[in-house]
Amino acid sequence: MPTAKPFSVFFLLLCLPSLALLPGSALAANPHSRRSSSFSFFWPWRRSNAARSEPSNGYFAPADGGGTMLTKAPGTFPPAGEPLNIIISGSSDPAVLKDSQALGGFRNFFLSIGFSGECLGQHSGLPQTADLGDGNGFVNETAVLRYNYGDPALGTCQETIQGGNHFRYWTQNGKSADSGAYFFATSYEKPIAQGHDIIVNGYNLGRDWLIGNITNTPINTTALTNTSTFTGTTSYAGFVYTSSIAYVSGLLPNSSDGVNHAGTVGVNGANAVDGLVAVVTIAITTKPANATSGAAGSGGRLDPQSIPALIPTTFLLLSSLLLGALAL
Ligand SMILES: *[C@@H]1O[C@H](CO)[C@@H](O)[C@H](O)[C@H]1NC(C)=O
Ligand SMILES: *[C@@H]1O[C@H](CO)[C@@H](O)[C@H](O)[C@H]1NC(C)=O
Ligand SMILES: *[C@@H]1O[C@H](CO)[C@@H](O)[C@H](O)[C@H]1NC(C)=O
Ligand SMILES: *[C@@H]1O[C@H](CO)[C@@H](O)[C@H](O)[C@H]1NC(C)=O
Ligand SMILES: *[C@@H]1O[C@H](CO)[C@@H](O)[C@H](O)[C@H]1NC(C)=O
Ligand SMILES: *[C@@H]1O[C@H](CO)[C@@H](O)[C@H](O)[C@H]1NC(C)=O
Repeated sequence: MPTAKPFSVFFLLLCLPSLALLPGSALAANPHSRRSSSFSFFWPWRRSNAARSEPSNGYFAPADGGGTMLTKAPGTFPPAGEPLNIIISGSSDPAVLKDSQALGGFRNFFLSIGFSGECLGQHSGLPQTADLGDGNGFVNETAVLRYNYGDPALGTCQETIQGGNHFRYWTQNGKSADSGAYFFATSYEKPIAQGHDIIVNGYNLGRDWLIGNITNTPINTTALTNTSTFTGTTSYAGFVYTSSIAYVSGLLPNSSDGVNHAGTVGVNGANAVDGLVAVVTIAITTKPANATSGAAGSGGRLDPQSIPALIPTTFLLLSSLLLGALAL
């Protein structure tokens, strides 16, 4: 049947707009070329063209690219910073690596463990900066998420006043080390009336209380080693996440050197930082039905940011189909 092949190409072309609107394709629209491998079904030779290689552990050690695991806190003398003590691995589900609440993204995951954006969108104080060794140098923190005391809308106002757990974060996405991983400076702060200092052992405890919020069981900070691993399952808005956590050494020193508030955080001879970083790899194990119904579903709302990125993807698809049609 000579007409069959051209017809199927035509049919595929008809399907293109809906393919591009599938929630999954928002992942492929991510500028990181690694993630467009989900389109290898349509364009099998693209995989070998992808230049970057995902590091096996899901992040690049900042020091390898001239970066550092301590942030720079503004207004400190001598210059001091906070430890980057949690990493969300670049091997996590690509949806989770998108800083968005839609489609089960980063913000939705953090709502599943009780963290949300700042009180009424306010932000006080100068940003800290960090150099993740990805070629971007020192850049401002992306944002701060705070423990919300069970109230996603207003709970972070309580955190701001009473103190509590919070983290600033950066993404390792520069050209020379584009893992897509998130690096957090996590700490547990005192009430605003006490100048938002950090509590005793507040870097290690902030890290471990956040991890405890993922595992839903307390983490014993003093018992941790570089072989400690945990898993946890959490959910929000119908998305179910399974996280695996591994504590690693070798990225941060077990030390107080250069650490902000070191004198009040590390007391009785203890270092302010124990030298362990919790590496979290997050998988989405269940998506709600309303997130997979494409353009028709309320959960399938397209992030406006991803629309420009969809254009090249659609163009690639069109041209590969055209090549296919020429070959018939
Ligand atoms: C970083 O933050 C400072 C202080 O808010 C601001 O002046 C500066 O423009 C920011 N830099 C970038 C690159 O956004
Ligand atoms: C969850 O976080 C809160 C606030 O930091 C903390 O008090 C609580 O102990 C954490 N839960 C677990 C199980 O670690
Ligand atoms: C935490 O670990 C330390 C050291 O292994 C141990 O002495 C302590 O009893 C543990 N605490 C709890 C609450 O399990
Ligand atoms: C774990 O820590 C020990 C020291 O406590 C060190 O000798 C070892 O090299 C570390 N292992 C890894 C994989 O970092
Ligand atoms: C999708 O469904 C889940 C329950 O499965 C619900 O919690 C969530 O709010 C819904 N999301 C939207 C955008 O309707
Ligand atoms: C950090 O160093 C102290 C000694 O300064 C040691 O007691 C502690 O076990 C070390 N912590 C880790 C996690 O290796």
